[in-house]
Amino acid sequence: MGWAAPWGPWASPLVRSGNSSASSRSPGVMLTRDRYPVQRLPFSVVSEDDLAALERIVPGRVITDPEELEAPNVDWLRTVRGSSQVLLRPRTTQEVAHVLRYCHERNLAVSPQGGNTGMVGGSTPVFDEIILSTALMNQVISFQDMSGVLVCQAGCVLEELSQYVEERGFVMPLDLGAKGSCHIGGNVATNAGGLRFLRYGSLRGTVLGLEAVLADGTVLNCLTSLRKDNTGYDLKQLFIGSEGTLGVITAVSILCPPRPSAVSVAFLGCPGFAEVLQTFSTCRQLLGEILSAFEFMDAECMQLVGRHLRLASPVQESPFYVLIETSGSEAGHDAEKLSSFLEQVQGSGLVTDGTLATDQRRIQALWALRERISEALSRDGYVYKYDLSLPLDRLYDLVGDLRTRLGPSAKHVVGYGHLGDGNLHLNVTAEAFCESLLGALEPYVYEWTARQQGSVSAEHGLGFKKRDVAGYSKAPEALRLMRQLKALLDPRGILNPYKTLPAHA
Ligand code: FAD
Ligand code: MLT
Ligand code: ZN
Repeated sequence: MGWAAPWGPWASPLVRSGNSSASSRSPGVMLTRDRYPVQRLPFSVVSEDDLAALERIVPGRVITDPEELEAPNVDWLRTVRGSSQVLLRPRTTQEVAHVLRYCHERNLAVSPQGGNTGMVGGSTPVFDEIILSTALMNQVISFQDMSGVLVCQAGCVLEELSQYVEERGFVMPLDLGAKGSCHIGGNVATNAGGLRFLRYGSLRGTVLGLEAVLADGTVLNCLTSLRKDNTGYDLKQLFIGSEGTLGVITAVSILCPPRPSAVSVAFLGCPGFAEVLQTFSTCRQLLGEILSAFEFMDAECMQLVGRHLRLASPVQESPFYVLIETSGSEAGHDAEKLSSFLEQVQGSGLVTDGTLATDQRRIQALWALRERISEALSRDGYVYKYDLSLPLDRLYDLVGDLRTRLGPSAKHVVGYGHLGDGNLHLNVTAEAFCESLLGALEPYVYEWTARQQGSVSAEHGLGFKKRDVAGYSKAPEALRLMRQLKALLDPRGILNPYKTLPAHA
């Protein structure tokens, strides 16, 4: 095993920015209203008078061209399609407030949209909801060099924010494969987890404040930059993870940690899942505070990444792979720790091959193998996507179980994810959407997860596709309170209807 290692035969440059958009791919996605049993609620239909009124609020930014509306009507996974005929591009909070006040009065439904990279059909309209895009709300408002507090509009692209704060010696507390397209407002609205969760925790902790516009156009200014503020209920938390159903987030204040000066990534092959878990345990003991990510993927993921993206594995073929990142402030100290960790896992047979990277280009290349799995899966066919929180010792059991259960009716059944956070991404691919395959997967996957007291949505949210399964992980009383909150904040239900809240009480 060569730790300082001979570098694998990388087949292509690993660029992600901009490749997450649905727009570049061909049409052909079935309308949501045709595939799913869903009824349009009695909202008004946009009239010529409405278009004229909206044009006065956001002049020149009312989009009705069917070609331009194609991409924002379809989700990234190409599994749902709405039929909206209007997209609005406000630039300011006041414009959002005017739009919502008008839509509220007219009983027009609105679907907020950021980068449209969501995984649960939350960002696209189901019927003819007006799409409210944050694409032009992309200004940094302030950055405090001392504290690392960034205040910005909701439509800032995550990768651009990362560059901005990195130039100033900080990092964003979250990172994900969709960084080149997703907006910070979308990240907060979904409470996205991602690749830095293990180190910096949930957005529920790092978002210090936010501004949101309620359904009736009221601007709720909770855009504080304070670390501590116990003046009653923490209202911003209501909007974090609310998926556009309670308000439109227009600005956020977020705490950025200092940029680590030493980063290393080890990519290792493991002979079994038990060894993956043992490696994690050893990692926590020996790397301690410098551990910043622990991700895993199975052999089928690596095959698909190789086949569809032409990325080669840097290590010998193995049943499992883990990606371990360390981030610290002193390279020598981190190298010493990593070296004794690697010796230990190699010596005990937990790891059979591996490679280590400390320079930026190689680190990015290793991360791409993990980050681009969802892209490889999308190229494989229709993807049935499950995002589960499970106890670590049962985390991979369902993958093998499903391979047996589904047999040849599935093309691939794969498991990967944020192992350090107890988060499995279980994905099944097929040539095309198939009702009977769906029937074999659901409710089986959800019942299995509920038996482990897991969560049926660890980080992607509920959106349109998972709204009816929330009850597998949430008590009826909690769901009832969610409904009451929705009714209080959006009495006409115009904000992202058909999403997040179960269709039936
Ligand atoms: P959209 O997709 O546009 O919207 C998502 C939801 O938020 C919708 O319900 C929408 O109505 C709502 N919304 C958007 N903006 C606002 C706003 N300003 N105010 C109110 N509501 C709003 N997720 C993870 O958690 N971890 C990952 O590691 C991860 N990796 C990903 C990798 C890839 C390649 C892709 C394509 C997706 C990944 N995701 C991941 C999914 C993730 O939810 C999104 O990428 C991201 O958080 C959504 O941001 P967005 O701007 O694209 O939001
Ligand atoms: C990831 O971790 O890669 C994302 O959550 C996307 C996915 O689940 O495919
Ligand atoms: Zn994920």
